[in-house]
Amino acid sequence: MSAWIPTSWQEHPAAQQPDWPDPAALDGVLKELHGRPPLVFAGEARTLQAALAKVARGEAFMLQAGDCAESFNDSSADGIRDKLKVILQMAVVLTYASGLPVVKVGRIAGQFAKPRSAVTEEREDTVLPVFRGHAINDAAFDTESRRADPRRLLTAYNQSASTLNLIRALTKGGFADLRQIHVWNQEFVAASKQGRRYEAIAHQIDRSLRFMAACGINLETDASLHEVDFYISHEALLLGYEEALTRQDSLTGDWYDCSAHLLWIGERTRRIDGAHVAFLSGVKNPIACKLSAAATPDDVLRLCDALNPDNEPGRLTFITRMGADKVGDALPPLVAVVQSDGRNVVWTCDPMHANTFVTPSGYKTRRLADIMVEIKRFFAVHNAAGTVPGGVHLELTHQNVTECLGGAEEIFDHDLAHRYEALCDPRLNARQSLDLAFEIGAMLQT
Ligand code: TRP
Ligand code: MN
Repeated sequence: MSAWIPTSWQEHPAAQQPDWPDPAALDGVLKELHGRPPLVFAGEARTLQAALAKVARGEAFMLQAGDCAESFNDSSADGIRDKLKVILQMAVVLTYASGLPVVKVGRIAGQFAKPRSAVTEEREDTVLPVFRGHAINDAAFDTESRRADPRRLLTAYNQSASTLNLIRALTKGGFADLRQIHVWNQEFVAASKQGRRYEAIAHQIDRSLRFMAACGINLETDASLHEVDFYISHEALLLGYEEALTRQDSLTGDWYDCSAHLLWIGERTRRIDGAHVAFLSGVKNPIACKLSAAATPDDVLRLCDALNPDNEPGRLTFITRMGADKVGDALPPLVAVVQSDGRNVVWTCDPMHANTFVTPSGYKTRRLADIMVEIKRFFAVHNAAGTVPGGVHLELTHQNVTECLGGAEEIFDHDLAHRYEALCDPRLNARQSLDLAFEIGAMLQT
């Protein structure tokens, strides 16, 4: 095999790529992106890999969360800050319950491209290209909106850069300070049962900090109380874009995809001889791959060979998305083969994607109860096998939307119409997310 270079993927079949009507325009945009600064740095990706190696050993827990698809119409500072609030709240709950550090990874600052099951969409006799995410086209149902426009890739890069810039400021500049713990409880959450339960934990943490200060520990000088490491991730779907942001690290000479700290391959693009596997096999970032209930032990071993040939801990995460009803049967054989073959992987649970259904009224939704059952069974399988249930991968928003059913403040079928704003898949709202964090915290309690 010849040495890997960022263009090597072009020798392989690439699934789920848009049909760009103007290849010359695409080329121009990709050249321009190639000249732009990297969004993340190789050293940060290495730090994340080290953190994930701890997850693999059961010494930390991974929380990966954010929108199904980010939107070009929603890039305000308030929105980014509020999304961060929910994730910080969940991280506090999980850290407090488990006594383990939580590795915080957003589906954010680059999650703009979606794999789709059909290339076109039909409405009342009109057939148009399907919506593929804001990096490609717009969701509105008209010819102009659905045309793949490569200039959108520049907007995706720019929005990723400004989002990440704010995240860096918030997580390192005081907003994520544990003394701000009460500020992360947004008003509409604070008034709820989960919000009050959160306040109780926050109060305990305040007391512990005061206790430590009284003991003579200088809390001012300890950066770990005032800052968090927050990583960004997205599905590496558009290989031209990922290639354009791939850079050689000056320290090690290794290639890194500098569009995000962690990139993942979807269930629909994980063909072993496909372009997505070929691309991510050559970058040194920590990477992940989704596995549905249809994945076989052989698929899994071959993915380990291709994506983690040196068997480095923290390099490869498998995100299982099997469905509440299937995970109990489908996961054990995969876990068993990885274990008996001595492969180092992180196992996390995406309880969202295989629990999706359409209601009679036409809304794509998910039940919080099914989501919880899939997570419970994921934990049960790993506990029985003696392997590590390393984390969760969630689709959520800070907003008070009504897209998923259930929760402590029940959302019913007839409520979905009230505030359904998802661009793609239904997301947990902030209360449901906090609810889930308490449930997962209980599973992690030792
Ligand atoms: N730095 C630690 C961590 O990230 C503690 C911490 C500071 C923290 N602010 C936080 C934990 C906000 C969770 C949420 O774990
Ligand atoms: Mn989704």
